[in-house]
Amino acid sequence: MTDNDKTGTGKSGISGLMSLANSIRADRSREISESGDGHPAGGEMPVPRDAVDPTYLDFKHHPLMENIRFAKTFAEKCGIAVPFFREMDSTDGARAVIQKRDYINFSSYNYLGLNRNPVISRHVYEAAKLYGTSVGASRLVAGERAFHRNLEKELAGIYAADDALVFVSGHATNVSTISTLFGKGDLIVYDCLSHNSIIEGIKLSGAQYFPYAHNSLTALCQILDKNRSRFRRTLLVTEGLFSMDGDIADLPELIKIKKRYGCFLMIDEAHSLGVLGEHGRGLFEHFGCDPRDVDIWMGTLSKTLAGCGGYIAASGEITDILRYYAPGFVYSVGMSPVMAYSVLTALDLMRSENWRVGKVQRNSAKFLKLLKDAGINTGHARGYAVIPVITGSSRIAVQLSGDLFEEGISVHPIIHPAVSEQEARLRFFITADHTDADLERTAEVLAGLCRKYGIIKV
Ligand SMILES: Cc1ncc(COP(=O)(O)O)c(C=O)c1O
Repeated sequence: MTDNDKTGTGKSGISGLMSLANSIRADRSREISESGDGHPAGGEMPVPRDAVDPTYLDFKHHPLMENIRFAKTFAEKCGIAVPFFREMDSTDGARAVIQKRDYINFSSYNYLGLNRNPVISRHVYEAAKLYGTSVGASRLVAGERAFHRNLEKELAGIYAADDALVFVSGHATNVSTISTLFGKGDLIVYDCLSHNSIIEGIKLSGAQYFPYAHNSLTALCQILDKNRSRFRRTLLVTEGLFSMDGDIADLPELIKIKKRYGCFLMIDEAHSLGVLGEHGRGLFEHFGCDPRDVDIWMGTLSKTLAGCGGYIAASGEITDILRYYAPGFVYSVGMSPVMAYSVLTALDLMRSENWRVGKVQRNSAKFLKLLKDAGINTGHARGYAVIPVITGSSRIAVQLSGDLFEEGISVHPIIHPAVSEQEARLRFFITADHTDADLERTAEVLAGLCRKYGIIKV
């Protein structure tokens, strides 16, 4: 009896077709074996990996690994230790202890000097006792705690917004928000110096996108004139205080443009909160604008607020969409109790110890003046917490960073490909905790080194 006979229906109808299909399959597999395209009958099985280029079998050949090796060799050739991922014994912002030596530190964005603040530490300890250190899962399933909503209410209050939503990462806040709210058929126009998290969000969204030349509103309007009418929703997005250059976006003009062209405006205030405006409320306070003219305020908790995470303050509709659909919120754990308490306390301190805002502004203006007076190229810096020193060469930036390190000053180089070669730089983050002596000594040592490397003429 053949297999087909087992059906008991002979070779007609469906079983006939089955039988035909089986015999065709059998014939085809015989052909494949004979032509050597498949597994040889009874012979040794070919190992598929033998057909793969060996460079795809080991991450030591990955182009990114080659970049890392190149950077390390480059630093060695310059005779300096790799300045990245340095082991720190301790850091509290303006000071750092690295391998048991004290440094003046310019690599921390602890703008208001709130990291290690004893009031924050006490509240964090109390939060851990009350709630533990984790909320266990996404808020969607693990539920809401009062501290989440309190924090969001405080953040929304800064911008007079309907609501706010906190994420556990600042980077994920931008990626998830932009890619959830915008998509195919939409247009996103962004400042070309916007942070990586904005650009990753834009790419992921599937919207059509165009960068405009840094802070050029003429370029922005040209793009909108040409393209706005072809798209549904349009987003204009920029940083408030630019994290690499220390200059600021022209908010009053951006508001006019967004109204004229019918766009949504999103501002990333990661570096502006605590730094711009009399009370540290950021870009809108600096310009005296109505915060409700901006549709999406984004900020991070990792800088002025000495914590970790990000937030969106916006209309109730926007925050609801994000609450239910943003993958970085829905599929990620809720903010830990210790972090929420620490950030809430930092917000309180930003308000009650307003002198900190004045101090970071004064320190930044002082340092910028010292560098400018010495003839050092500080690019577009406006004197608000972020002050670049443009070296025009990655090699000089790395060497300067190494020489300053020997002098007890820690500042990081930003080199190609993070910026173009001509834009290679050192980036100084100024905090309220830096002393006049820190700033004066650093400016003096830096000026001497810049002369040595021929990047100032004096
Ligand atoms: C402008 C800007 N946006 C977003 C982020 C991401 O924030 P976080 O480091 O808190 O994830 C950063 C990081 O420094 C930033 O500079």
